[in-house]
Amino acid sequence: MSALLRADGLGKRFGGLRAVKQVSFELAAGEITGILGPNGAGKTTLFNLLTGFMAPDEGRVEFAGKVLTGLAPQRVVNLGLARTFQLCRPFVGMSVLENVMVGCLCPRVRADGGGAARAMELLRMVGLERKAQTPAQLLPYGDQRRLEIARALATRPRLLLLDEPFAGLGKAEIDPLSDLIRRLHAQEGLTLLIIEHKLREFMKLVTRVIAMDFGEVIAEGDPEGIVQDPRVIRAYIGGTEDAHGAA
Ligand SMILES: Nc1ncnc2c1ncn2[C@@H]1O[C@H](COP(=O)(O)OP(=O)(O)OP(=O)(O)O)[C@@H](O)[C@H]1O
Ligand SMILES: [Mg+2]
Repeated sequence: MSALLRADGLGKRFGGLRAVKQVSFELAAGEITGILGPNGAGKTTLFNLLTGFMAPDEGRVEFAGKVLTGLAPQRVVNLGLARTFQLCRPFVGMSVLENVMVGCLCPRVRADGGGAARAMELLRMVGLERKAQTPAQLLPYGDQRRLEIARALATRPRLLLLDEPFAGLGKAEIDPLSDLIRRLHAQEGLTLLIIEHKLREFMKLVTRVIAMDFGEVIAEGDPEGIVQDPRVIRAYIGGTEDAHGAA
């Protein structure tokens, strides 16, 4: 099995704080992998290192056989690694359709042509086709999350990183979004890496979990095993200040 993504010894400091420490893992093509960890564990920073939004202080990232370390985000996305953000970031002052059309400008897909038609197809896929002309910033939060996914999909990624896709959503919105993510995996063959805190939905979605605490990978395994891992319980599932502080 050759890895689609390989992170090797990644590290990032902010002043005296080591936000990511010696993080190494691999993702095989076709996997849905989850990243679990308490607030401040370094999950989003790890995404930033993988996607070129931040340069690591140490370590390297390989994707589809190419070294990504040090490449700018637009170069990374053009190689087929796209992401969404923990806080939705639609392009303000543009319609929902135009937001997705921006993704269609990625050099990787420009040759596919039909920006508006392709963007509309993606809006249909995520269930936003009737809101195509709505200014993006007026969408309710759950729809903004779908828009972020459609915009990322417009770049035709092989690997999509989702940073807390269920944050701020109720169960009525989470279930259909989970179904959408499953469909993208099954029908589009997308490989996914998902950060999430909503454990019940998350554990049903992912096939493997990487658990982090204080910037480090503390455990890795299938969802059933990981929720019973004492290090994970201490760091996260116990959830109390005491449990976390004692870790
Ligand atoms: N740009 C930055 N400058 C300084 N410190 C930062 C910066 N980004 C993150 N940090 C710090 O690094 C640590 C890891 O933050 P990160 O956002 O990666 O955590 P997280 O696991 O995504 O947490 P959450 O679950 O709350 O989103 C935190 O202590 C955070 O305050
Ligand atoms: Mg985060």
